[in-house]
Amino acid sequence: MKKTILVTGAAGFIGANLVKELLSTTEDKIVGIDNLNDYYDVSLKEYRLKEIESLDGDFTFVKGSIADKSLLDSLFETYNFNIVVNLAAQAGVRYSITNPDVYIESNMIGFYNILEECRHHPVEHLVYASSSSVYGSNKKVPYSTDDKVDNPVSLYAATKKSNELFAHAYSKLYNIPSTGLRFFTVYGPAGRPDMAYFSFTNKLIKGETIKIFNYGNCKRDFTYVDDIVKGIKLVMDKAPLKKNGEDGLPIPPYAVYNIGNNNPENLLDFVQILSEELVRAGVLPSDYDFESHKELVAMQPGDVPITYADTSALERDFGFKPSTTLRDGLRAFAEWYKKFYKV
Ligand SMILES: NC(=O)c1ccc[n+]([C@@H]2O[C@H](COP(=O)([O-])OP(=O)(O)OC[C@H]3O[C@@H](n4cnc5c(N)ncnc54)[C@H](O)[C@@H]3O)[C@@H](O)[C@H]2O)c1
Repeated sequence: MKKTILVTGAAGFIGANLVKELLSTTEDKIVGIDNLNDYYDVSLKEYRLKEIESLDGDFTFVKGSIADKSLLDSLFETYNFNIVVNLAAQAGVRYSITNPDVYIESNMIGFYNILEECRHHPVEHLVYASSSSVYGSNKKVPYSTDDKVDNPVSLYAATKKSNELFAHAYSKLYNIPSTGLRFFTVYGPAGRPDMAYFSFTNKLIKGETIKIFNYGNCKRDFTYVDDIVKGIKLVMDKAPLKKNGEDGLPIPPYAVYNIGNNNPENLLDFVQILSEELVRAGVLPSDYDFESHKELVAMQPGDVPITYADTSALERDFGFKPSTTLRDGLRAFAEWYKKFYKV
């Protein structure tokens, strides 16, 4: 049956990839909202929207903020969404140290508005982006959704953990099926320029030096965007069941999953693979002197030394595990970069 789906953050990296996948593989009506803010180069968001518009399919784009309650009221009244996927947020750990206000506006007020709309409309499933950053400096690896995560080390992480708490309360009070997805370092073509693989590339091209934090002793569970999109799509179609407990009251139809590669890579290995793929794609010349453009520096506030996803719950409930290797994913990124920036 044709569904009507709201994707917030539709011009964002993950949102645009999800919309493209839904338009290519379903008959569903997709409404996308995004405020097209200038946290990073807006032309990338416009490029992603153009790519979406080049596809056949039922897509409506609304430029606006999820912090605008009256705009959301009118959208939910007009479209009666079956599924809501909330990906709009102010992302970035470091930016939350210098620009906290926007995190409260988009990640807290915006998310609260989405929950209120789900409360007052018959939404079958709310899926929303959480983040691996909720694990803070968790010592135990791999990170499991059963771990206690009450020690965020950035405001960004605190907003994401708060989203999970808000969603739990709304699931319990109003029986709204909700699933939070903790994404682990998502990367790929037309990704976010604030993330290391992208900003390193920009710097290397200009002949600048890249800073490798914690003297290279960092590990990240890099997850290719197509794997994230596959995971979101599977989760969207299977809302947590509504059930009553022994007391006759509803058990909150609430779930949280990790989506990560379950295979953390050392930052120095990651830089090595990235440099090889940039040379292979012709973004950088084969005689590029990488060693003289690398600087090993101390850890930054808000950063964590390792992220490592335990994905067993996702595998158990959806039979799915991300599988794209870092080399394949960075190859796709390097090839896209070459074309997009006409290097
Ligand atoms: N990319 C990652 O590695 C990663 C990791 C963990 C979690 N996440 C989360 O996944 C989601 C998507 O991330 P992304 O990497 O695609 O980031 P992104 O910045 O590319 O996408 C977010 C989009 O939301 C829009 N937006 C921001 N505030 C808004 C508001 N108030 N109203 C409407 N639109 C707004 C932005 O313009 C942007 O296009 C975010 O919630 C992010 O926190 C991403």
